[in-house]
Formats: sequence, structure tokens, C-alpha cells
Amino acid sequence: MSAEWWREAIVYQVYPRSFADGDGDGQGDLRGLISRLDHLAELGVDALWLSPFYPSPLADGGYDVADYRDVDPRYGTLADFDHLVAEAGRRGIRVIVDIVPNHCSVQHPWFREALRGVGRDRFIFRDRPNGWQSKFGGSAWTQVEDGQWYLHLFDASQPDWNWRHPEVVAMFEDVLRFWLDRGVAGFRIDVANMLFKQDGLPEVELPAGTPLIPADAAVPYENQPELLELYRSWRAILEGYPGARMSVAEIWYGNAEVARPYLTGDGLAQLFNFRLMPAPWSAAQFRTVIEESHRLAMETGGSIPWVLGNHDVPRMVTRYGIDQDLVRAPTAEVMLGQVEVDVAVGTRRARAAALLLLALPGSAYIYQGDELGLPEHLTIPAGERRDPMFERTARAFIGRDGCRVPLPWSGQAMPYGFADVPVRPWLPQPEGWGTLSVAEQQADDGSTLELYRRAIAERRRHPALGDGDLTWLEHGPEVLAFQREPGFTLMVNFGAEPVPFTGTVLLASGPLDGGLLPCDTAVWLA
Ligand code: NOJ
Repeated sequence: MSAEWWREAIVYQVYPRSFADGDGDGQGDLRGLISRLDHLAELGVDALWLSPFYPSPLADGGYDVADYRDVDPRYGTLADFDHLVAEAGRRGIRVIVDIVPNHCSVQHPWFREALRGVGRDRFIFRDRPNGWQSKFGGSAWTQVEDGQWYLHLFDASQPDWNWRHPEVVAMFEDVLRFWLDRGVAGFRIDVANMLFKQDGLPEVELPAGTPLIPADAAVPYENQPELLELYRSWRAILEGYPGARMSVAEIWYGNAEVARPYLTGDGLAQLFNFRLMPAPWSAAQFRTVIEESHRLAMETGGSIPWVLGNHDVPRMVTRYGIDQDLVRAPTAEVMLGQVEVDVAVGTRRARAAALLLLALPGSAYIYQGDELGLPEHLTIPAGERRDPMFERTARAFIGRDGCRVPLPWSGQAMPYGFADVPVRPWLPQPEGWGTLSVAEQQADDGSTLELYRRAIAERRRHPALGDGDLTWLEHGPEVLAFQREPGFTLMVNFGAEPVPFTGTVLLASGPLDGGLLPCDTAVWLA
């Protein structure tokens, strides 16, 4: 692996509240995570990215930070964090943490001061709101007691920082150094494209018929030019530390050109590529995304961090198991069981997608539980849903709880080994998850967990995989196929009919039909 290890790293996303519960309170924590690090080591990942674990009211799962330099007592202590970095390091696993610079929590001391009228200019207060909408639905403004309004592009509990205030800039530099000094390998930057708002806060036309603004709309609070300078300064901080520290930015875009300015020059090392997630299961649509993204990476000298799942989108198995015309807009009607989910089809496709992900040039992010082939949990009772998006959109969007359900580790009943004691986890798990648990799957040669382990081991061994180039192969409109040098071919059959292939099989996502590659199946060939 090169000095710029992130260019081809396999990174496993840990959503700490749902990974493993070490103290039996029904919520995951750092001790639980440390006790399960061998799972990550056996999977063979290079790094883990830890979603927020900072003190927080958890109004948005911890993306509402009350203190950027500590650990929420429910998750443990700073000593536990240091222990995690050391224990992961002993297994050759780096730790990336989430930094949330667009907004904090209403509980942050500076926002509490602002409510008392002190230092309001660290936030965006106005006498009158404009028409901006929250990303979670509803107005992006909330009024405080003395009549002023503050801006929150997400939940009302998440006031946006004013990035034109020098104290905000300096505070985040300190936060970066605080975690770098504790040995983190880098940062995942939350909503990295929204920090600066255009002067004068010009109005935005909201398209009719949707409670949410589409990801690609050009809006005056996204991709402002000041960001480039800021990220250059962050990069300089990272480069001041030994051991190659990195950052990966969360920026959603549909058009690859949005990414170009960030990737050119000495700014952000990487921007997540989420573009396969809203793509329906189609060879042509997948190929377009991969071609455009890869071309840009080659032109800018970057490498692509590919993502097929995270804590914000419906899980792959469910996404690929519904009518593919609905994949782009998983509203409540879609996700609440009013459409049919074919879990067998979804699982088959998700396994094929995993082999595609791990064969693509660049790095690969795996969301916890995707290595187990977990489906979205669709039947969480409304009263137990926690995602603010659910209520803020008047339940039109079901929200993201279904992909955040605690992992099943063992056993046949809740909490499925998530905790050692019989506790009801913070989000209930569905019936029947016993067969998907880590314990069951590691005993089963044909399991999704085994497929991931083998694929990751093969990717580490094979000189063609990881960072680099690809050459497209033509096998008809339903097949996605490329070659990587030396001596590696990937084929995915998106069509209904089996297709012929030649070569020696290194790995397949499902049973092969002699010399034929069946429907919804991927194969790695030498
Ligand atoms: C993106 C995070 O991934 C998501 O979970 C969160 O709700 C928003 N940013 C706001 O921080």
C-alpha cells in the first residue's frame, strides 16, 4: 500500500450506537466496539470510520455535537477512545473520526451563550427568516425568545455555524489537532459543501411537489468558493502530522463536475462517491457513473472512495429488492411495506454489488452490517422511530432508522448478542435476524460474511486491485465488465439470461451455471 494509503483502503463504517453494547444499556459504546475489533480484523479492513461519539443530545444520532473534544458518557471516556485507537492499531486498523463543522447542537456552550445574547455572530441569526428549507424538511429557521431567528440547514436542534467568524475557524483547527494528537488517521467531514452561505442569503426556489430539495439543485449554501481555501488550510494541518493523515468529504452530487474544484490542487484528498447508491440496478446506469467518476479521478490525480451503503440510505438488500423505478425516492410509501421487497433478489444483487465495489479502482467504504447482508428494517413502530426526518417531513419520508438497527452478533432473539444482557436495544431488531448473525455466518461457507472476507483477502493479494486504472469490456447491454492489469476481469450480469464467460474463476457472488454467469451474479476472473 502506498504512502497515501487512503487511495485504496477498505474502510469500515462504525455507527457506534448500533455496533456493540459493552455495558448493557441498549446502546452501543466504545468498549463494545473494542471487544468486537477482531470481527474487523478478520474481515481484513484497513481502517474504521467512527460516526460521531461526542457528547450530544442525540437528536440527530450524534450529528448534533455539544462538545467536539470529548466522548459522550453513554459511549465511554477519552481513555476508552485512546484504548480503541491502540487496540485497532495493534490489529493494523487505522481510526478515522467524523468531524461535524456545519452545525453543532443547541447544547453547545457557544450556542447557549448565543441564546443569552453573547457571541450570536458565531451563528447565523437574523431578524427575519428567509425561505430556505431544512434538509430534513420544514423551514431552516427557528425563532428564539427575543424574536430573532437562527439558521439550521438540518434539524432545529442543529444550529449552523457562521464560518466567516474567525473564532469558529480557529476552534475547528483546534478540534482537528485535538484528535490528530490522539492518533486518528483522518477525518470524515460531514456536509463538507455547506459551511459557507452566500452573502445576503438569497432565496431558493423550491421545486413543487417535494418536501425536500433535490441533491443537485444549485443553492446559495452549497459549494461556495470560500470552501476551497478552508480545505487547503485543513490539508496543511493534516500534512503537519507524521503518518499520512487524510480527510474524506461528505458531498452529495449528481454531476461529477461539482466535485472537480475540490479535487484540483491541494484541497481535499477525497470526496465520497455516492453516485451508485441512487442508481437503479442497471448495467448501463452503473457504467455511466463509473465511467464519469473514473475519468474525473484520472484527470485530477485523485482516487475514488466508493460507497454502496451508509447510515443515511436504505440498505442495499432492500434497495435492490424493490421495483427499481422506485430506488431514487425511497419515501414512506415505498419503504413501509406498501411495495414488495424481494429479499432473495435483493440479496443476490447486493452480493454481486459487493464484488463490483471491491473490484473498482480506488477505495471502498463498507457500512456496518452490509457485510452480513442485512436488509432495511421496515417495520419499526412509528413511536420508536428516532430520525428527525420522519416527523419533520410529516412522515412522508420514513427516515433512516431502518439502516441503523443494532447488529446481530449471535443467538436467535433480541438483542442477538448486541449486548450480553437481555435488553431491548435503542432501536428494536426484527424477528428472524438470528440467521444473519456474525456467529451463524462465520460457520457457513456460502454466507455473505464469507464472501466479503474472501473478496477482501483476494483484493489484498491481487496486484491489479485497489488504486489504478480499468479497461471496459463489451459483453452486451446487460453486462458490466472491465479488465484490470495485470490479469483481472470483473463481470456482473444485470440481465435475466445467463451469459457465457471465459477465464479462471477467482470468486463468484453466487452459484455459476457451468461456463455461464447467471442473472444478478458477479464473477472475478483471472
Ligand atoms: C450527514 C450525516 O451523514 C447525516 O447522518 C446527518 O443527519 C447530516 N449530515 C447532518 O449532520
